Amino acid sequence: VTLETDPQGFAQLTAKIAADHGIGCNVYKEKCLRRRIAVRMRARGVHSFDEYSRLLDQEPAEYQKLLDALTINVTKFWRNPETWRFLVDRVLPGVWSEREGAVRVWSAGCASGEEPYSVAIALAEVASRAGRPHALSKARVDATDIDRVSLERCRAAEYPKSAFDELPGELFQRYLESGPAYRVKEEVRRVVEVISHDLTRLPAPRPPYDVVICRNVIIYFDRKGQEALFHRFHKALDTAGYLVLGKVETLVGEARQLFELVDARERIYRKRA
Ligand SMILES: C[S@@+](CC[C@H](N)C(=O)[O-])C[C@H]1O[C@@H](n2cnc3c(N)ncnc32)[C@H](O)[C@@H]1O
Repeated sequence: VTLETDPQGFAQLTAKIAADHGIGCNVYKEKCLRRRIAVRMRARGVHSFDEYSRLLDQEPAEYQKLLDALTINVTKFWRNPETWRFLVDRVLPGVWSEREGAVRVWSAGCASGEEPYSVAIALAEVASRAGRPHALSKARVDATDIDRVSLERCRAAEYPKSAFDELPGELFQRYLESGPAYRVKEEVRRVVEVISHDLTRLPAPRPPYDVVICRNVIIYFDRKGQEALFHRFHKALDTAGYLVLGKVETLVGEARQLFELVDARERIYRKRA
């Protein structure tokens, strides 16, 4: 594969992907991008970007495979339980009472929905602990992603048992119903709104938010892309709103001035006035 020897071909290929699918490849770390494209090219026994580009035009299924590879969308319900424990015990109750239940959350880069539905479950817990389970209907979780297939799964909201490995048993009992697949109960599910959205190009869908949760997404962006995103989140948050980055990512650069640290381990921040 002529990855190193053909920078122009590589640039043309990423420009093509951007034009066809609206994925602004330029914000992704180039090394990740190269590696993933190389994997697909190898899988198809293709040796030049040009040839691969033609293959993408001829075979929609290959194009989809490449997009899936570029927008890695592994996720789980209650992924990193400590983060959720912190949210349910320490963050959401205050927000919930201040907003009298009408909490507005943005799950940015939601993949197939396990994260936004976990937010809905967390809010249901907080509402029920406050003795007002029905107030859950006032809450709103905007679930956004760029990946079409993920968004379809998010809308269908049906999951295999393995999606719940990290969800505590009692929450599973309380909030899931089973059919041929598992679904979050209707009254919890309906606080989630699924919206197609490119984080690199568009402002927040429906600001202001009390909480923005964006985990395992920014890691694929280069430094400039990350900083731009932090500014976007800052803008999208209401006064003293929370930014939840979770275990993997951390605030970098100037953006650190925009937020104060709430919890270093779970990487939870709060917007400075
Ligand atoms: C690993 S998943 C993270 C899912 C979930 N937040 C979690 O932590 O479990 C990363 C997601 O980011 C999405 N993504 C990547 N680039 C994006 C962009 N420019 N705009 C919106 N979503 C993007 C991918 O499509 C993918 O679904």
